[in-house]
Amino acid sequence: MRADASIAASRRFFVVAFALACALAGVARARAYGYDPCASSGERGIEIAGAVTIGLAFWPGGALERWDGYHPCAQRAQLAALGVGTTSFVINSAELTALRGTRADEDGLYATNASATMMSVVAYTATRVSAPRAVRLEAAEPTNANGRSGRVNALTLLVTLDGGDVKYLRWHDGGCGACGGVGDARCLSVGDGDVACSASLAGCDGTCSGSACDVDLATADALRCQLTVTVATSGTDKNDEVFVLGSQLERLSMYASSGAYASASAQSTAAVTGVTGFLG
Ligand SMILES: *[C@@H]1O[C@H](CO)[C@@H](O)[C@H](O)[C@H]1NC(C)=O
Repeated sequence: MRADASIAASRRFFVVAFALACALAGVARARAYGYDPCASSGERGIEIAGAVTIGLAFWPGGALERWDGYHPCAQRAQLAALGVGTTSFVINSAELTALRGTRADEDGLYATNASATMMSVVAYTATRVSAPRAVRLEAAEPTNANGRSGRVNALTLLVTLDGGDVKYLRWHDGGCGACGGVGDARCLSVGDGDVACSASLAGCDGTCSGSACDVDLATADALRCQLTVTVATSGTDKNDEVFVLGSQLERLSMYASSGAYASASAQSTAAVTGVTGFLG
């Protein structure tokens, strides 16, 4: 939990942990490092700048409604048997944080279900869970009403605390300002009426040609082929002091449409190495 303090000093957006997203090893490894999002210490008695442990659970082939009644901690075994993979992160509650695993883990998990035509994600703490969001969609996915396909670039999560205890994990609709608006083919419906920009499947696979190639796989632009979750906090800490980040979410959407967000998240790859070293 000390690591994030030192990284926080140097970066506005930073990745505080790296992916453990593997259906078999994910939860176990997170526990080994003491970063188990299912431990109540990760969601209770949080002070301003104290650590919050957040898990992301990915379900290859898991349509949104299938998450109903599942919590990745309470139903850990059932979800693991359904192929759900988890990643855990420790964030500094006073920082705007970008969470990102590795593309290899995300792609590897998706490949574990050969018939999957979509992948969904929830964010969770020990007893709380967000609504699900689609992070990957193929045109053939039966629940995909408009038939658009792609890999979602980024989602924004608002963690609301009350007296230092995590109360809600809610997605903030970042819109599609960064990719031409809701009418654009790159704008995907991700759940509950929210939309998000995506990179094309062919662009990420390198199977496109000409103007269909919307991703430069040789540069940090390739990061759009995997999910980045930006986390902000709101509410009050255990001393009833107020977390102020939530009120900046509108500004965050502005960064997203100006392109500054993309470069900020590209920067955070540098931090991955440091954190990996710390964990390893
Ligand atoms: C794999 O994907 C298919 C197609 O989306 C889905 O019907 C199936 O339930 C998925 N498998 C699991 C274990 O979730």
